[in-house]
Amino acid sequence: MDTPTMIGIRSVAEDTVSLVSYFPIPFFGILPVNAFLIRAAEPVLVDTGLGALRESFLDHLRQVIGLSELRWIWLTHTDADHMGNLLPILAEAPRARIVTTYLGMGKMSLQQLPVERVYLLNPGQSLHAGDRDLLCVKPPTFDAPETTGFLDARTRMFFSADCFGALMKAPAESAGELEPEDLREGMVVWTTIDAPWLATADRRQWVRSLDRVRGLEPKGILSSHLPPAVGLDETLLRHLDSAQSAAPFMGPDQAALENLTKGVGKV
Ligand SMILES: [Fe+2]
Ligand SMILES: [Fe+2]
Repeated sequence: MDTPTMIGIRSVAEDTVSLVSYFPIPFFGILPVNAFLIRAAEPVLVDTGLGALRESFLDHLRQVIGLSELRWIWLTHTDADHMGNLLPILAEAPRARIVTTYLGMGKMSLQQLPVERVYLLNPGQSLHAGDRDLLCVKPPTFDAPETTGFLDARTRMFFSADCFGALMKAPAESAGELEPEDLREGMVVWTTIDAPWLATADRRQWVRSLDRVRGLEPKGILSSHLPPAVGLDETLLRHLDSAQSAAPFMGPDQAALENLTKGVGKV
């Protein structure tokens, strides 16, 4: 896969679909980029996909909801792979408000994005979406301090933002389909890339943050960067934990990049 690719819509839990795409990562394979729609009484879109796939993403989104019905856009954080289509969605969804944190609002403002429709929610607080509460949770790992995930109290799915992501070799329908070693390696490398600070984090605090996920008793984990994972909590937590002592990530250098562009070393 050489270019960003929209795969389609998948049902991932009751009332919940994923808008699935993949982004090529030179040298390392591909990274899933998932947005989600929760068909709550007040519908919630979780992140807004890749700008590079704008038309396709919006077409798929319109297949699962009339955008005028959308009430919430939960922006897990302000990275480009999470808010690539925020502006056109805001334009088509006049009732929708953007769920973020104070820092998220600030970073949006720095990028000259509209902040009039933000709704500030901190970890520990809940968003009431009509027929369910979404409990705001800080995931154990993140690459931007404004990051928030949440537990859907009705489906008990944990939306974990960048956390629990994995680099992959090929698209898959579920995390359980991956070869166990590919899942472990893909998660560890992704986590060392996305959260390099983990190597220096206090061990006891880190273990406590993993225990907080256990305490949520999620039915499944919906990461922005992993196919849906049901019944794999302990496996994913173990892989995440092992990333703390993994070798730090060092990206390819200029010589490697030039070799790649000549077609040498391409994966
Ligand atoms: Fe990120
Ligand atoms: Fe991301």
